[in-house]
Amino acid sequence: MVPKRLVILGSTGSIGRSCLDVISRHPGRFIVRALAAHSNAELLAEQYRAVKPDYLCLVDGTRAAELRSRLSGEPVEILVGEDELIRLATLDNTDTVVNAVVGAAGLMASLETVKSGRPLALANKESLVCGGPLFSRLMKKSGAKILPIDSEHSAIWQALACGKESELRRIIITASGGPFRNLPLEKFQSITVEQALDHPTWKMGPKITIDSATLVNKGLEVIEAVVLFSIPADKVSVVIHPQSIIHSMVEFIDSSVIAQLSKPDMRLPITYALFWPDRVESDFGSVDIEKLGQFTFEPPDLEKFRALKLAYQVAATGGTAPAVFNAANEVAVNAFLNNALRFTQITDIIENVVEKLEVVSQPELNDILAADKKARRMAKDMSGK
Ligand SMILES: NC(=O)c1ccc[n+]([C@@H]2O[C@H](COP(=O)([O-])OP(=O)(O)OC[C@H]3O[C@@H](n4cnc5c(N)ncnc54)[C@H](OP(=O)(O)O)[C@@H]3O)[C@@H](O)[C@H]2O)c1
Repeated sequence: MVPKRLVILGSTGSIGRSCLDVISRHPGRFIVRALAAHSNAELLAEQYRAVKPDYLCLVDGTRAAELRSRLSGEPVEILVGEDELIRLATLDNTDTVVNAVVGAAGLMASLETVKSGRPLALANKESLVCGGPLFSRLMKKSGAKILPIDSEHSAIWQALACGKESELRRIIITASGGPFRNLPLEKFQSITVEQALDHPTWKMGPKITIDSATLVNKGLEVIEAVVLFSIPADKVSVVIHPQSIIHSMVEFIDSSVIAQLSKPDMRLPITYALFWPDRVESDFGSVDIEKLGQFTFEPPDLEKFRALKLAYQVAATGGTAPAVFNAANEVAVNAFLNNALRFTQITDIIENVVEKLEVVSQPELNDILAADKKARRMAKDMSGK
């Protein structure tokens, strides 16, 4: 079998590391052409030794010097800076680009990958949230293939195979509910960073873990589903399923609901995306149906988690609105993680910024980048930084 040649952006993060773990379990099936990260020179050097790519990239120039000295004499080209992510996204002799960068920083690489016609294995949901109108146009025009890594979208993708596009009634995205599902709203004011980082079912990077605690993550996923599956936001429901075994569902016009179940382990959707259209033997553990006990479902509390309600409005508005929502959230989450904001202020800031900024309804890339920039500036001012 011919090995698949991969570029992995964001290789040092939670998804990037899981991706390399999947690759290590399938010797001979992949060649890693390039790895990229922001600043973690130590781990990138270690990853280099494991998979020997031709290219490494660090966005942070000062850490790139450290990477060079760690790997001096090694036959690898070390690239520096954000623009080089784009070069890697369009590298020749590559079959698939994995984008596991966190935040809107992954947008340009996703766009260039899709434009180049390469399949994009996508964890970086913020790309689709910010650049939705651009991706929708590109997907219509060139039939570009985006292979979702987000577990919910992987589940939807798998369930959709059971019917035709015209037979789809709605998508049902499941959510664990995060650590504060049962916490009364009046206690939200005193939520600490440590509490918000303690997710009940998933181990992930810090930004998405906070997004899961505010349910912003579910909002981003609703917008991601709208773009990926060309479906209006009012046909995407969210249901709380604290066991995190059903990763999402699809309802067809005959009222049949198809669900995808597996253990909450990101290596499963990563494996599905990397080997698609095939399935391969995996040993991440089966769902022990007999011992599971109960599955429970409840609607999300949109008074407690206002950001999810706002995400639906933003998804329906479209244009630059989702990019603004995303940028304000990124700034606010960063401030919260640095103890510069209270937990509840994350949603306050997103609401304020979304309310104040005008929407460009048919945006080009420049409009999206400008909206992102303005929203970040406004959110920074609001978080006092
Ligand atoms: N973790 C999960 O289970 C999970 C599940 C579903 C979807 N996702 C999505 O996957 C993406 C990655 O999440 P994660 O949890 O893996 O995040 P993470 O652990 O924080 O890792 C982020 C990765 O992106 C790199 N990075 C950060 N800023 C960058 C920049 N400006 N330019 C280039 N690279 C940059 C980081 O490099 P350094 O290490 O050098 O900082 C790291 O490799 C997010 O969009 C998230 O929503 C994650």
